[in-house]
Amino acid sequence: MSKFIIANWKSNKTIVEAKNWLESVRLFDFDSDYLKVVVAPPSVFLPTARESLPASINVAAQDISSFASGSYTGAVSARNLEGLVSHVIVGHSERRRYFGETSQDVAQKAEQAIAFGITPIVCVDESEIQSQAAAIVSQILNKCIVAYEPVSAIGTGNNVPVDKVTSVSAQIRESFGSVPIIYGGSVDETNVSEYLLVCDGVLVGGASLDVDQFGKLLTSAQIQP
Ligand code: PGA
Repeated sequence: MSKFIIANWKSNKTIVEAKNWLESVRLFDFDSDYLKVVVAPPSVFLPTARESLPASINVAAQDISSFASGSYTGAVSARNLEGLVSHVIVGHSERRRYFGETSQDVAQKAEQAIAFGITPIVCVDESEIQSQAAAIVSQILNKCIVAYEPVSAIGTGNNVPVDKVTSVSAQIRESFGSVPIIYGGSVDETNVSEYLLVCDGVLVGGASLDVDQFGKLLTSAQIQP
């Protein structure tokens, strides 16, 4: 079964740095049947990313408007992203914490994405699983990818034990049904392969920024521990 490796750059990089990364990642040799690599740059770099990357690498947005297309200055709607991205990250803990997003907002974002053929990657910490699933209309729950993102593990080096991912995945399935589940929080080239044994992929922040480090992560991801 294939595994997602999702690189979330967050608000990092200049356009020059972004282009250098995109040119370099093309040179990596990985099994694209096994690894579904998805790059999530800041939204201003999305067209450049889509044009630079081979078709074997997908492009994702890091966020999306909860509103439809229309008079919402500054917002990037699902319709704006149609045909440009395959996936969108919604409800990342940094969006909830710094931008005040609620599970209801996240549910609307997921609905907008699905209406335009974009798969939402719904991020939750353990305490949000039930309420987030309840906020999303039941017909689209099984069209989501769910990312277990423990806040304590994000950007801290404190990645959670692999068996914790297994137990939380069971909770996620109780609420969301049989959806792909990925893990995010201090994943790097030393631990990625362990997570891939127990879930459908990983969301990588810090370890995706340096392209050489990301290349090492892709190499490790293909080795079964
Ligand atoms: P990190 O970020 O890999 O830097 O911990 C992960 C995330 O925010 O999803």
